[in-house]
Amino acid sequence: MVHYIAALLSMLLLFASCQENAKDLQTIAEAVPYEWTLPEEIIDYSIIPPDVMPQLFANTFFNGNMLSTYSVSNEKATLGRVLFYDKRLSRDNTVSCASCHLQEHAFATQDQFSAGIDGQLTPKNSMSLVNLRWSRRFFWDQRELRLEEQVLQPIAHPEEMDQDVSEVVLELGQIEAYGSLFEAAYDDPTITAEGIAEALASFLRALVSFDSKYDQGRPDGFSNFTESEERGRVLFFNNRCNQCHTSESFFASNEPTHNGLALAPGDDGFFIATGNAKDIGKFKTVTLRNIGLTPPYMHDGRFENLHEVVRFYNEGIQAHPNLDDRLTEELEIGGTPVRLGLSDQDIDDLVAFLHTLSDEGLVQSEKYANPFPH
Ligand code: HEC
Ligand code: HEC
Repeated sequence: MVHYIAALLSMLLLFASCQENAKDLQTIAEAVPYEWTLPEEIIDYSIIPPDVMPQLFANTFFNGNMLSTYSVSNEKATLGRVLFYDKRLSRDNTVSCASCHLQEHAFATQDQFSAGIDGQLTPKNSMSLVNLRWSRRFFWDQRELRLEEQVLQPIAHPEEMDQDVSEVVLELGQIEAYGSLFEAAYDDPTITAEGIAEALASFLRALVSFDSKYDQGRPDGFSNFTESEERGRVLFFNNRCNQCHTSESFFASNEPTHNGLALAPGDDGFFIATGNAKDIGKFKTVTLRNIGLTPPYMHDGRFENLHEVVRFYNEGIQAHPNLDDRLTEELEIGGTPVRLGLSDQDIDDLVAFLHTLSDEGLVQSEKYANPFPH
């Protein structure tokens, strides 16, 4: 049925006919292996554990990302997976999405800033890409509304991949197997920018993570937890963390919030998207799922480890007119920063709990892995 699912697809480049192409194809051929492996059977990318479904629907919004809740096309996600790992998306074929979004780190990196093309560093910390199909907006400052538009931005960005999408279309058009992948996804072998965007977005929507130690323990009252993890769980829900990193399933919120980090002038967050002074300093209330896998922390990677993060919430929250009411003594926006009064033991326990949110399945799953030989 699906002819692209060969155990090994060999790539053919039509060197001769492409002399006018701006790129030196010989260099490209040397830089990138022209083969990839895909499993023999079509992978089901749409699986969501049934017990999280009600929560998920509660988080469904009427926005550009909404339809994604209902289905993910396996063929589009398969194409998206290949694109996600393909360095040909960058100008000099050295950078793929996966350069800054590594599976072993829940699709983030462990660097404060990530190296894009020519070793240039991103101005912000790379973000984990799990459960984005229920995210309402994208990037730390939440400036982007639609995943399909978001995914093309790193390709064109001069410090990330620095390549015109039309150039990518030309380049992939020379690779036979991409025609087959497009045919399978869209009933048409023609490579298009829209098709690339939709496939990448489909793969991202397929990246779901609901199989952590926390999830495994939830049905029977966390009998799998150590004493420290269990104390940490209670502390998490009694110290306001869950009020922003909300919901039993997501540990995130679709509302950007000001969590009291000291910010340099110009580091304005959501204000960039709205121009409203009330949004200065608000950032995406990111998921804490897999948080143990993605140090350093915050949009600028200022904290090296989770102990530093918890100590910040315990005693380091800064006053600001937009400081979220849930982090103030008076429970008023812009109020006095709360001091949680956690002991060293409490801090250790809270950190132990945060580590239970790591999903080894996500990190090891073949269906999200790099299809290129490496
Ligand atoms: C050079 C490193 C780099 C590369 C390459 C890169 N990213 Fe990112 N990505 C980042 C950084 C840094 C952020 C946060 C940027 C910001 O908020 O301004 C980010 C954010 C994102 C987000 C937003 C996540 C959220 O929770 O809102 C998505 C989605 C994403 N990247 C997908 C991709 C895709 C798809 C590609 C390949 C086409 C890609 N990235 C390539 C570094 C990179
Ligand atoms: C008022 C809402 C709010 C509350 C309450 C809150 N957070 Fe956060 N949290 C945020 C926001 C917003 C960010 C991202 C801030 C940034 O990077 O600028 C964040 C970031 C984090 C991060 C780093 C995420 C990453 O990927 O780098 C961790 C870990 C974290 N919070 C843990 C906690 C814990 C533990 C608590 C309870 C002690 C807590 N948070 C309470 C809003 C909140």
